[in-house]
Amino acid sequence: MIKPIQFLDSGVLLLDQTRLPGEEVYVDIKDHLAMAEAIKSMVVRGAPAIGVAAAGGISLGAAAIRADSFEAFYSELEEICAIMGNTRPTAVNLFWAIERMKRVAAENRSLEVDKIKKLLEAEARRMLEEDIQHNKDMGAFGQGFISDGDTVLTHCNAGALATAGFGTALGVIRAAHLKGKRVKVIADETRPFLQGARLTAWELDTDGIQVTVISDNMAGYCMSKGMVNLVLVGADRIAANGDVANKIGTYPLALLAKEHGLPFYVAAPTSTLDLSTTTGDDIPIEERDRTEITHFQGQLVTPEGVDVFNPAFDVTPNHLVHAIITERGVAKAPYEKSLQKISIEDRKEATTKSN
Ligand code: MRU
Repeated sequence: MIKPIQFLDSGVLLLDQTRLPGEEVYVDIKDHLAMAEAIKSMVVRGAPAIGVAAAGGISLGAAAIRADSFEAFYSELEEICAIMGNTRPTAVNLFWAIERMKRVAAENRSLEVDKIKKLLEAEARRMLEEDIQHNKDMGAFGQGFISDGDTVLTHCNAGALATAGFGTALGVIRAAHLKGKRVKVIADETRPFLQGARLTAWELDTDGIQVTVISDNMAGYCMSKGMVNLVLVGADRIAANGDVANKIGTYPLALLAKEHGLPFYVAAPTSTLDLSTTTGDDIPIEERDRTEITHFQGQLVTPEGVDVFNPAFDVTPNHLVHAIITERGVAKAPYEKSLQKISIEDRKEATTKSN
């Protein structure tokens, strides 16, 4: 199984996603600053993976705090969390993971600091295991949307690499494949960072799932030629009304799917739901460095100094989304109700687990 994040006794090992598919190189992360840099530079990327990696980084940072009182410890922990929260603004899993780590510390304030550090490490490890399980559950719910012989169009990488393992959108495809369905995938190359061409193609190929890479501007043509049965993508943040933020280029795919009468599905764990954000208009959209647009493999491909706009995500309005597949089941419109219901189930489960 592809393992993008591994917790070791000495630190956190990340599979460097900036170097795939050419080289399979691992980076040994020893402290929270190195983890924050790895998230920013996309050594680790994909919403659920960012959350788990951040939790790992916070646990490394916490382990190095020298403090005798809970107050002194917690104040340094908050600084570490602020650094982690300053890495990438769109994927809400990052903030979900930070809050979860802070809560563990706050709820155990009466314990010795060393004990709290151990609990934080255990929590980060638990998040990793839970994420893999949630992806498998999502796969079980979602694979029913894929029929034998279908071709699925996907965008970016919502696979094992973007999570702790197995993947969200690609996890659903994997689950269908493991059921014996013959599934083919068309992967958008996903300019400018090429997550589709580099990462989705690599991981599906590694697993023996047939994949064809196209450049982003070919999706409409493929649909018009009847080459696509459904579109399936992941998400970075889902607002309370079901608007979905995902990799830039997802929204036009949803429009194209509608034009061609194809279903458009989103697979995401409940940690990607942000019910405190009412609509997609309120989701912060990360803008990345201009060189991602002006350069290709280190070569300048635009006139020097040209104006550049590089938003990393867009928002697909809820009316274009046929269903949102989560680890707790499938949500359909009206999303205000269905997502709320799924998230209440989530809270119930959390309370039962902690009792
Ligand atoms: O910029 P990235 O590579 O972190 O963007 C990733 C995506 O947009 C994914 O589709 C999303 O995080 C879902 S991953 C399971």
